[in-house]
Amino acid sequence: MLCPFLQSERLSLEPLSLKFNTKEYVSWLNNPDVYRYMETGGNYNSEMLTEYLQDVEKKDILFWAILIRSTNKHIGNIKIDPVNKRHGWGEYAIMIGDIHAWGQGYAFEASNLVIDYCFNILNIRKITLGVVQDNEAAYNVYKKLGFTDEGLYLNHGVYEGKYCNMIRMALFNPNYTY
Ligand SMILES: CC(C)(COP(=O)(O)OP(=O)(O)OC[C@H]1O[C@@H](n2cnc3c(N)ncnc32)[C@H](O)[C@@H]1OP(=O)(O)O)[C@@H](O)C(=O)NCCC(=O)NCCS
Repeated sequence: MLCPFLQSERLSLEPLSLKFNTKEYVSWLNNPDVYRYMETGGNYNSEMLTEYLQDVEKKDILFWAILIRSTNKHIGNIKIDPVNKRHGWGEYAIMIGDIHAWGQGYAFEASNLVIDYCFNILNIRKITLGVVQDNEAAYNVYKKLGFTDEGLYLNHGVYEGKYCNMIRMALFNPNYTY
């Protein structure tokens, strides 16, 4: 599935690759403020990142690095993976790893670019995601993007040393009718 370069007013999205293997990227995955509600992070090192990015490069995957156009600074990643072609859905995830870039609408802007590409070019029917119920910032981003709640998985994972619920959310492609 083609993972193209995309551009919005302030951001450019580039296919994630080994070229983004930096100390700063490793530091994001060692910052509890970033990885608190993620599946990876803590005791992370550059060998682990190299292996991860090598694996990404081998796959046919919709996975982008998010860069600020004016500075070409890498601030995070966004992906739609896996994509289920039979049923027409794709699973979304985002990380703005550079905490100095938080609160400036970058997650919203990058997500809208990817959603537009998925809905209007790839004709993906439904974008799905899971968010830890305590992750208020992420939940609010998704609400603002138009995602709605589809279900609640109780005590689904362990975050911050305690069991947390997982909210499943989805956004439907308006080009489809039911
Ligand atoms: C969650 C995350 C993606 C938000 O990125 P961001 O670029 O700061 O978000 P935006 O600036 O685009 O915010 C969009 C909306 O989300 C909401 N929001 C963002 N941060 C928030 C916060 N800390 N508290 C409450 N609402 C928040 C607001 O409604 C905001 O809209 P507004 O500015 O008009 O009020 C980012 O903090 C992050 O990557 N965190 C670590 C990794 C992570 O948790 N990823 C999600 C895993 S499911």
